[in-house]
Amino acid sequence: MERLRVDKLLANMGIGTRSEIKRAVKQGKVSVDGKMIKDSGLIVHPEEQIISYEGEEVRYQAWIYLMMNKPPGVLSATEDERDRTVIDLLASNDRVLSPFPVGRLDKDTVGLLLLTNDGQLAHELLSPRKHVDKLYEARVHGEVGQADRDAFQAGVTLDDGYVTLPAELDVLENTLEDGEAYSSIRLTIREGKFHQVKRMFEAVGKQVVHLKRIAMGPLQLDSQLAEGEYRELDEAEVELLRSHRGNRP
Ligand code: URA
Repeated sequence: MERLRVDKLLANMGIGTRSEIKRAVKQGKVSVDGKMIKDSGLIVHPEEQIISYEGEEVRYQAWIYLMMNKPPGVLSATEDERDRTVIDLLASNDRVLSPFPVGRLDKDTVGLLLLTNDGQLAHELLSPRKHVDKLYEARVHGEVGQADRDAFQAGVTLDDGYVTLPAELDVLENTLEDGEAYSSIRLTIREGKFHQVKRMFEAVGKQVVHLKRIAMGPLQLDSQLAEGEYRELDEAEVELLRSHRGNRP
């Protein structure tokens, strides 16, 4: 574990907001290795130092929940030898808690990516048995219509023979560009096979040219986040995810 500011550490542990902690430091309520500190921005090493609040040791074990609008061109992985990963986009204060991406978006896919160090929650959200809804928006080469809607509702056979669970397809717009048909669509799937959305469209003879995830279970992508930006989930969002039980068919 890396070093971090003592006020960030205490805020992560739920002791108070950064400004409350600043005040507590001024009031002499915070000590590091037995010595009262004066600076709430002091950098500490949680594994090597003893941090106390009002005389009681604060044991450092914090959860972190981040929502990112994943940009294109980065991998949903914790590390990679060649490519940048979503972890490289995090500030060091957030990296300190070792969050990892919950599931994968392809390198060229953008949109909602949850990052957390809460393995239990990640496991529940990804469990194939839970069938947590994933909502995508896509631009597709080819004219998407009723036949595709019916096929996705019935389940389509992917290139490896797998038959997908029923999925809801909405066509938002059909356009013609340079004589080529394109469709803007929304698709809700309840599973997460490798390249699933792209392969579902391939199964009906069409090609996804842009893909964005909008929601995962009850968690919606914050429209204020530009690609590459992220923010912490608020308590209500964490609670929504924790209490979400998925859609068992
Ligand atoms: N389906 C895909 O094909 N790619 C993604 O990144 C996510 C779902």
